[in-house]
Amino acid sequence: MSVTKNKWTPTHGDPYRPVPYTPARMDAAASLARAAELRARMDERRTVRQFSTDPVPEQVVRDAIACGATAPSGAHQQPWTFVLVKDPDVRRRIREAAEAEEQVSYEGRLGEEWLEALRPLGTDDVKPHLTDAPALIVVFQQRYWLAEDGTKRKHYYVDESVGIAVGMLLSALHLSGLAALVHTPSPMRFLAEVLGRPVNEKAFAVIPVGYPADDCVVPDLVRKSLDQVLVEV
Ligand SMILES: Cc1cc2nc3c(=O)[nH]c(=O)nc-3n(C[C@H](O)[C@H](O)[C@H](O)COP(=O)(O)O)c2cc1C
Repeated sequence: MSVTKNKWTPTHGDPYRPVPYTPARMDAAASLARAAELRARMDERRTVRQFSTDPVPEQVVRDAIACGATAPSGAHQQPWTFVLVKDPDVRRRIREAAEAEEQVSYEGRLGEEWLEALRPLGTDDVKPHLTDAPALIVVFQQRYWLAEDGTKRKHYYVDESVGIAVGMLLSALHLSGLAALVHTPSPMRFLAEVLGRPVNEKAFAVIPVGYPADDCVVPDLVRKSLDQVLVEV
C-alpha cells in the first residue's frame, strides 16, 4: 500500500540515499576550550518562574525552535509540533485551565510523596508566567502519523525524541540569552483543545520564555556532581 506523503515525514518510505558528510574536524585544544565554556554556560541555566513582561526578539525564539527541530528522532519521524502562542486571549485561557488543574493537583491529587518532592521548589497552583512571559511555546508529541487522507502510521520512540528536541530547544534559548520554564500541568488534555490541535497530537510541555523579572528568585538547588552521574567502564 502506498504511503501518503505529508509535511511531517518528508523521507518516509524513500530508498536509502547516502550523501557525503565530512565536517571539518575541530582540533583537540579548540574542542577542550569549547567544551569547558559550554559546561560553564550550561551550568548557569536555571528554570525561571517569575518573568519580566518585556518583549523578546521573536526571531530568537523561532531560531531556538528551529534548533530543537534539528534533534535526532526515532526513524527520523520528527514527531513534534511547537505552537508559539502569542494571542493574549489564548494565553489567558491556557492560564485559567492550567490553574484549575493545578489547584486540584496541589490540593491532594499529587499525593504526599510528590508534594514532598516539589516542596524545595516553592511551586504552587498560581501560574503567572503563563501570561507574563512574552513568549509561550506549547510542545506537542505526534503520537502517530496522521496523513491528510486519514492514513495512520506508527511513530517510534516518540517520548525520547520529543524529550531530546525540548532539551535542545532549552539549550538554544539559554545560550541565546533567554530564560525558560518547562511547565507540565497535569493532566494536559486542555492544551490540545484550546489550541485546536489534531487528534494525533498530545501536549508534552508548556514553555514560557522571556527575561527573568527584576525581582526573580530561584530555589537554592544543588546539582549532582559529575562523579554522581557518570560511570566510566
Ligand atoms: C519534564 C519536566 C517537567 C517539569 N514540570 C514543571 C512544572 O510543571 N512546574 C514547574 O514549576 N517546574 C517544572 N519543571 C522544572 C523543574 O522543576 C526544574 O527543572 C528543576 O527543579 C531543576 O531546576 P533548574 O532547571 O533550575 O536546574 C519541570 C522540568 C521537567 C524537565
